Amino acid sequence: MKILFLDQSGKLGGAELSLLDVASAFSPHCLVGVFQDGPFPQALASRHIPYQVLAQSSIAVSKESPWADGAKSLGQLAPLVATIARLGQDFDLIYTNTSKALILGALASRLCGKPLVHHLRDIVSPEHFSRANRTLLVTAANWCAAHVIANSVATQAAFIAAGGAAQTISVIYNGFAPAAYQTAPEARADLRAELGWHDKFIVGHFSRLAPWKGQHILLEALAQCPDPVVALLVGDALFGEDDYVKGLYRQVQRLGLTHRVKFMGFRSDIPPLMQACDLITHTSIAPEPFGRVIVEAMLCQRPIVAAAAGGAVELVTDGETGWLCPPNQAQTLGDLINHSYHHPEQTQAIAQAGYHHALTHFTLDQTHQALRQLLGEFSTKG
Ligand code: UDP
Ligand code: GLC
Repeated sequence: MKILFLDQSGKLGGAELSLLDVASAFSPHCLVGVFQDGPFPQALASRHIPYQVLAQSSIAVSKESPWADGAKSLGQLAPLVATIARLGQDFDLIYTNTSKALILGALASRLCGKPLVHHLRDIVSPEHFSRANRTLLVTAANWCAAHVIANSVATQAAFIAAGGAAQTISVIYNGFAPAAYQTAPEARADLRAELGWHDKFIVGHFSRLAPWKGQHILLEALAQCPDPVVALLVGDALFGEDDYVKGLYRQVQRLGLTHRVKFMGFRSDIPPLMQACDLITHTSIAPEPFGRVIVEAMLCQRPIVAAAAGGAVELVTDGETGWLCPPNQAQTLGDLINHSYHHPEQTQAIAQAGYHHALTHFTLDQTHQALRQLLGEFSTKG
């Protein structure tokens, strides 16, 4: 089965990190078409996954854009659709991994007559998409996708609520290679010493810096915690959220937290950084479609507090495999962090239960098997 994967981003977001793992299972009998150069194509190259950068400049339409912006970019899109349709002739299936890839892939699949499967990794709701883009996405999926894979039940439900065809969508969770999350035992102590925080209670946050990811909620919560509780924020603004980042720096100053917060920028060494932490928080204020960081924290044997919305509630059982906190509630998050700080034994038990849960439910082998079976059903070689 030869697959043409399509992804709009050159950056390394969760959708692209997931696609790296998916495509490696089909490599070398695949091609990943990317609409932008950057760290994602570089990561494909370093894993020897065949790829091609298909566009010279990024497409100027965002999830919140109205119709008019989409129409204006048609001139830029038509040659890209033609390129994809030409490439598609050599493959058994087109697999789109992002919403812009779906729109272009849908048109191209019509032109080259190859089946299309879309991997829906977004919650198609007003919090994330303009009305115009919700309609466009759902219409393209209904008309052109042989099947839609949702990354969670929440993503599936939002798609159907937005008018998506219920009979064409099913859930496959993201999978992870557990071995990638084991690190040398001394790494934790070394990193904590390097940070100058060997005796602190380190609360980690691992996510691109963006308003809906809610880093500001963690800062507000931290201000309610005692001095030894500190925060490590790993991640950068990937999609131009520079004003939000400036706001976070101002918030740190205003709350008097300069000695208790470190911004690390984008990092590729997530497992050792997670293991250096005592607790990991996920604070999205809009429903998280899946939340890779939640499962990654579990695999690093670290306790997780996740925002109780979207796919996150499918990953965490409150008080058993982690804690759930209502989104946008800094006070409750502060209380949970304090609770964890004062109850190390319970915290340790929760981390262990989360670890075993992730090992049982979210392995890459399980995801690959489910994907192979599903894609086989829809490919021209199926
Ligand atoms: N991540 C990373 N470096 C960073 C911050 C985050 O590699 O500095 C990774 C993180 O480990 C996770 C992914 O980015 O695998 C984010 O995926 P998630 O599903 O949590 O959120 P998304 O950003 O896709 O909405
Ligand atoms: C998207 C979602 C995130 C999910 C990732 C991988 O980036 O925002 O929640 O984990 O895709 O499916």
